[in-house]
Amino acid sequence: MNPSSPAHAEWLITGADRLLTCAAGAPELGCIEGGAVAFSEGEVIWVGPAAHAPDAEEVIDASGCLVLPGLVDPHTHSVHAGSRSDEFARRLAGASYTEILEAGGGILSTVQATRATDRDTLAELARARLRGMLRRGVTTVEIKSGYGLEVATELRMLEAAWDCRDTVRVVPTFLGAHAIPAEHRGNRDAYVRQIIEEQLPAVVEAELAEACDVYCDRGAFSLDESVAILTRAKELGLSVRVHAEQVVHTGIAAVAAELGATSADHLERIDEAGIAAMAAHGTVAVLLPGAQLYLRDDAPPVQALREAGVPLALGTDLNPGSSPVHDPWSIMTLACILQGFTVEEALLGFTVQAGRALGRTDLGWLGPGSVADAVVVAPPSGEPAEVASLVQHMGGSRVVAVVRDGVRVV
Ligand code: NIG
Ligand code: FE
Repeated sequence: MNPSSPAHAEWLITGADRLLTCAAGAPELGCIEGGAVAFSEGEVIWVGPAAHAPDAEEVIDASGCLVLPGLVDPHTHSVHAGSRSDEFARRLAGASYTEILEAGGGILSTVQATRATDRDTLAELARARLRGMLRRGVTTVEIKSGYGLEVATELRMLEAAWDCRDTVRVVPTFLGAHAIPAEHRGNRDAYVRQIIEEQLPAVVEAELAEACDVYCDRGAFSLDESVAILTRAKELGLSVRVHAEQVVHTGIAAVAAELGATSADHLERIDEAGIAAMAAHGTVAVLLPGAQLYLRDDAPPVQALREAGVPLALGTDLNPGSSPVHDPWSIMTLACILQGFTVEEALLGFTVQAGRALGRTDLGWLGPGSVADAVVVAPPSGEPAEVASLVQHMGGSRVVAVVRDGVRVV
């Protein structure tokens, strides 16, 4: 935030009632009243009060609005085919998520549909979802594989995810350990071996993922299986993350933190030891209130995580089953109502803390050195541009402009 401004910029967002920089080091909203941000050559060149803003070729007037960094969604399953609307009805009638999965539905039903779909179609289906997210201000989306559960489809999903870079910034994660595929039900060891000996090396060889994730839970992978997969992924140079302590407590959050996981996600059933390990290793908690809502689950222990100093991030968990949600603003509202987040924590959770969950220090804040992504948001109709109103009205704010890599895209 250098007050001595450059003379000229390509793009300028100016006159914002409130500009939230979401500072990277000690995460805070960093509110500048009457703020402006200038972009040139795909970079942020200046942030400060509008009175000192440089001239620009293109100007976005943000008066009456708030400006935030481009939002970061650190946990999605955006690449998939098929529909699970029938299961929605079954769950409303009382069936549980794990029962449906153990009977060959759930994730496994999406696996069948995804295996039958080619790369271009998978990318096109994902782009439609991602365009909806971009219109809501999300400029970076983590996308997991995990509906292939064999080498070819896992690779195809990650290729389709990469193809979507024309729509948003994509951070791809390998999730071959999402479920035991039907053909390996009687022989889970063989599937774990396939992940370790075939899937992981192929993904790394093709440079298709930055991280490896594992769904460690009842109905999915055991603690030992998960640790074997994550350990191999680390050896191969991937960062590691986990779906942790969602349906039952397994102990994976603590073990993953010790392995250096950048994040542990869900955490409805994390215990004190897990929280302590995450705090000690700086592991980010990615909380997913969409899944809590759809599964009518209990909240994770946010107050204990907060007191221990665990960084709190939020994601949509966009997927066709447990969280068919792509609106980050609704997730922030749910985080406050269902999980006890403050408004400030919710906004930081979808910006700088989400970047941290992905192991990235350039995402989710605004200033020289950050990615050149920003979102201009109008408050709900007739209201002043207060920070709290962004989160108070579920889905009530209106994104009026999005800048990605220094250029207006919405
Ligand atoms: O994050 N919990 C496991 N995986 C996903 C659900 C994916 C699905 O149901 O298709 C989740 O909630
Ligand atoms: Fe997930």
